[in-house]
Amino acid sequence: MQVGQAHAAALAAIHEAAFPRDEIWNLRAISDLLATPGVLGWLDPAGGMLLARIAADEAEILTLAVVPAVRRRGIARGLLSVALAELSRLAPGAVYLEVSVLNAAAAGLYAGLGFKPVGERARYYSDGSAALVLKLSLCE
Ligand SMILES: CC(C)(COP(=O)(O)OP(=O)(O)OC[C@H]1O[C@@H](n2cnc3c(N)ncnc32)[C@H](O)[C@@H]1OP(=O)(O)O)[C@@H](O)C(=O)NCCC(=O)NCCS
Repeated sequence: MQVGQAHAAALAAIHEAAFPRDEIWNLRAISDLLATPGVLGWLDPAGGMLLARIAADEAEILTLAVVPAVRRRGIARGLLSVALAELSRLAPGAVYLEVSVLNAAAAGLYAGLGFKPVGERARYYSDGSAALVLKLSLCE
């Protein structure tokens, strides 16, 4: 379901449980993002969250997280499919995101949804790994 500021704490708790310590976005960061024009949030109460930002006719997936206990049950795919439906309505050009070259789980998820690599950012993450920039064209 799409959520706003009132669910910032729930989104932050999921992010904290899903990411390594130095990649966690705290409540303040998530709350500030949700207060930013163009930023949208989705929550799966079973333990998933997604934030996206719209700019003109393009959108970016800012973060996606599912708590370890409920992974591999389709929660991330479900969140993405609901979010992409709304983003394609609000920003029909394309959706971008960054994913670590080491993140096989997320890479498989995004490839399955049709995202294609369009670039790379060296040493993007705190562990020194590079980010792949992925794009999903919504208007094709
Ligand atoms: C990546 C993440 C969001 C996936 O969440 P999830 O709810 O477990 O994913 P889903 O169950 O919807 O999986 C959908 C598809 O993604 C791929 N996938 C998910 N986890 C995978 C894994 N551990 N290994 C390989 N492929 C995986 C598979 O193709 C899967 O489809 P399948 O189960 O039918 O084979 C979750 O592992 C997570 O929160 N990881 C830590 C944070 C993170 O890396 N976020 C993404 C940053 S870009």
